[in-house]
Amino acid sequence: MLLLLGAAGCRRTPVKPAVETVSDLHSYSRPEQVRVRHVDLDLEVLFAGKTLKGAATLTLERKAGSALVLDTRDLRIEKVETSPDGRAWTTAQFQLGPANPILGAPLTVTLAGDTKQVRIHYSTSPGATALQWLEPAQTAGKTHPFLFTQSQAIHARSWIPLQDSPGVRVTYTARIRAPKPLTAVMSAESLTRDGEFSFRMEQAIPPYLIALAVGELEFRPIGQRAGVYAEKPVIERAAREFEDTEKMIQAAEKLYGPYRWGRYDILVLPPSFPFGGMENPRLTFATPTVLAGDKSLVSLVAHELAHSWSGNLVTNATWRDFWLNEGFTVYIEQRILEQVYGPRRAEMEEALARGELQRELDRLPARDQILHIDLAGRDPDDGMTEIPYLKGALFLKLIEKTAGREHFDAFLRGYFDRHSFQSITTAAFLTDLRASLPAAAERVPIDEWIEKPGLPRSAPPPPVSEAFTRVEAETTRWIRDEIPAARIAAREWSTQEWLHFLNALPKRLETQRMAELDRAFKLTGSGNAEILQTWLLMSQRNGYIAADKRLEEFLLSVGRRKYLKPLYEELVRTADGKRRAQAIYAKARPGYHPITAATIGAILK
Ligand code: BES
Ligand code: ZN
Repeated sequence: MLLLLGAAGCRRTPVKPAVETVSDLHSYSRPEQVRVRHVDLDLEVLFAGKTLKGAATLTLERKAGSALVLDTRDLRIEKVETSPDGRAWTTAQFQLGPANPILGAPLTVTLAGDTKQVRIHYSTSPGATALQWLEPAQTAGKTHPFLFTQSQAIHARSWIPLQDSPGVRVTYTARIRAPKPLTAVMSAESLTRDGEFSFRMEQAIPPYLIALAVGELEFRPIGQRAGVYAEKPVIERAAREFEDTEKMIQAAEKLYGPYRWGRYDILVLPPSFPFGGMENPRLTFATPTVLAGDKSLVSLVAHELAHSWSGNLVTNATWRDFWLNEGFTVYIEQRILEQVYGPRRAEMEEALARGELQRELDRLPARDQILHIDLAGRDPDDGMTEIPYLKGALFLKLIEKTAGREHFDAFLRGYFDRHSFQSITTAAFLTDLRASLPAAAERVPIDEWIEKPGLPRSAPPPPVSEAFTRVEAETTRWIRDEIPAARIAAREWSTQEWLHFLNALPKRLETQRMAELDRAFKLTGSGNAEILQTWLLMSQRNGYIAADKRLEEFLLSVGRRKYLKPLYEELVRTADGKRRAQAIYAKARPGYHPITAATIGAILK
């Protein structure tokens, strides 16, 4: 569990940083003794048995001891071999320890004095937490099955035996066998030839960024180095929605230096994908719920792209430091949006985020409001609230305001260079900040922001959006019954204005007032997932049963956890709602990702 963090073996690392010793509570591995540097995968995708079967060959760096400790979860280990040179292999002793519900089971391999490589022959279990196996009916094309992985935070161990800590960066190569006519894609450079899917990631990445998807996929370029993978029925829509991607890359490069990963493609997954997006290097995974038709939800692309700097280049060393990934990323996302779509749009997004942060703070216990969160004994997925994202971004915004934008931009650019291809802790960030921007670091109450719950009084004031002020005026007129819904001046409203409108409405509305809004604006029929989810939540809260059918449809067709969780939570508040929720869940459960199912299962239990 002790990691030595330092130059991650990447030829692009300019300076060799001081080595820092950090412990990661969420890994059994002991990389300070034996450290995995490269992972080579040879896997067959077996849809019938919902298993991946094959071998992982790990290349080691040895400092001490004669045991390699790996993380696993529900893996069936068939055989372990060791080799001094990658040619001669001998069967090795191994021991699979008891399984912990959060961490899985440690796999200890006994090494000979000259062992440089370890090969593990294994297969995954059908319940592997990183894998979702979709039936043809759950895909857009309806004829072929689909598989995708989601390794963050500690699910990589459920499909690859490795040192599953974000501080243990690895390069990787892979060969994947998949049934025809399916295509395999990974978070790596594709070397695929003649239907032999093979991949190479030459930059050292944390294990949670290793990703695979297999399905009937098409590809469309949307720029020199950007493109979209999706199923055929979705590909054109996706290519249009994401046409500004190249502009976003350029905006980010102008601020933080060159994009270092070569290509930037986006894979649009079937709707059961449990997240909005996942920043797998070279290949962002995205939910189809962002395909609104008007680019109004593409902040998600700005976000996942921003991770190419914050997260993938400079990575949180442990899951306590998750805010370093997400807080920086939200901050950069906002800067990209401002560059590409202008300050008005950025202001609106920021104001919406501020509202979300406030609602999250009202909801969460104090211990979960802390950026440098204590996750001892907890699943790192528990730390995945809006706090690391939005409080983190606000903290950086405060530093920006204190230092001045120009100085802060120069600092961030330098920060990404100084720590590129490294995994760093909150303390390392603060040391860097104090050294690089001493005056600003002095003036900001750092400890209060990092170690304390709540929103510090030093938080920058929420942005004033004139568009939102106009929305509020209209909302007030309707609430006071001065105008009917049909006369609200909403014709030109963007998605962001609609969301602000819905958020500004009283928590409780009479059913006939809900119906009036619905008649005027067809909200139950909205094709925009963000607006629809907000409306469905209001509908359930207010007993507006005309939306019940649509709610059920939504819960049955979408697997994005952030959307489903609040809806189920609202449902279980009433006895009737709880019965409906259970009935819907019974039908929907087989289609949910294990991560989503775990969350919803806990709400219903
Ligand atoms: N890296 C996260 C997703 C994640 C975090 C998965 C922790 C598992 C554990 C990704 O970058 C993300 O933040 N996605 C957001 C969308 C974004 C626009 C805020 C999501 O999925 O909601
Ligand atoms: Zn993120």
